[in-house]
Amino acid sequence: MAESVIDLNLDRIKGVGPKTKEKLIDNGITSVLDLAVTLPKELEEILGGKEENVNLFIVSARRLLEENGLLEREFITASELLKKRKSMRRITTSSTNLDELLGGGVETQAITEFYGDFGSGKTQICHTLCVNCYLPPEENGLSGGAIYIDTEGTFRPERIYQIAETRGLNAEEILKKIILCKIYNSNHLEVVIRTLGKYIEKFKAKLIIVDSIISLHRAEFIGRGTLAERQQRLNVLIHRLLRQADIYNVAVVVTNQVQTKPDTFFGDPTRPAGGNIIAHACTYRLYLKKSGPNRSATMVDSPYHPYGDIKFRITEKGIEDLAT
Ligand code: GTP
Ligand code: MG
Repeated sequence: MAESVIDLNLDRIKGVGPKTKEKLIDNGITSVLDLAVTLPKELEEILGGKEENVNLFIVSARRLLEENGLLEREFITASELLKKRKSMRRITTSSTNLDELLGGGVETQAITEFYGDFGSGKTQICHTLCVNCYLPPEENGLSGGAIYIDTEGTFRPERIYQIAETRGLNAEEILKKIILCKIYNSNHLEVVIRTLGKYIEKFKAKLIIVDSIISLHRAEFIGRGTLAERQQRLNVLIHRLLRQADIYNVAVVVTNQVQTKPDTFFGDPTRPAGGNIIAHACTYRLYLKKSGPNRSATMVDSPYHPYGDIKFRITEKGIEDLAT
């Protein structure tokens, strides 16, 4: 990568003068990347301009990122794509079965969603991944930090310490590499995701956790009348995350709750919350279930992964394979 994303200052966009720049920054759009992932409608509101003008800004921002190799061009050759795929990395979950289900671990340049009932292990997987992200590549980590975006207040540094310590790792060092971001409402989450880029660079993060992705939106947008707005805002949020995963080559892991579909007569009536919007944007979706004292995971809707479920357990070491 030629330039760092934060070096791409808004001044470099043609037509963005000091006044416009100030308005953008006031609204959390502080870099060319932020501008590139803003929706025209949003920008129109911020700048009070005509749609054709704001479109021009967004297109210029995208072009600048493309020229700097930070964003894929619309048309690329398959060989370029292969090269890009080769820069993809993985983080182990510490369960060989779960890793296998994921094709070798949690991928960068992708969003992996874990959904399931309360106590199914979503938060425990997130904690374990934060520890493993610190491991060197030869131990299936990324030698990087993690940003933990916590909307439920369930992040526990003590648990990180325990997982690291029982694995014989340097717990103190690992704790320093995990950045916690506590979220208070859906709007706060949207602002944090919008400005995530600079924190990814600052903390050299390789893993972004959002635990959980839609609980706040779900709690705040109640009733049919608000559904369309909620879905639109979630759509922006999740696509922004996906783009950040891509541009910064980081792994994004989100957790999601389940809802029961009352009109299901056959099979399991539980579905991940958030509808199609979350479904389309997430690269991989895994359904977690309690299975006696253990847990099971199934890859949902992926043509490339084996069908069927695998088992893992939650212990003082975090996530592990079942004892043999
Ligand atoms: P919600 O956030 O409530 O939807 O659930 P979740 O899917 O995030 O559940 P979570 O990952 O928090 O799993 C909770 C379960 O993990 C508990 O019921 C325990 O069985 C297990 N667990 C949590 N901490 C420990 C621990 O320190 N040691 C062991 N052995 N198990 C733990
Ligand atoms: Mg949880």
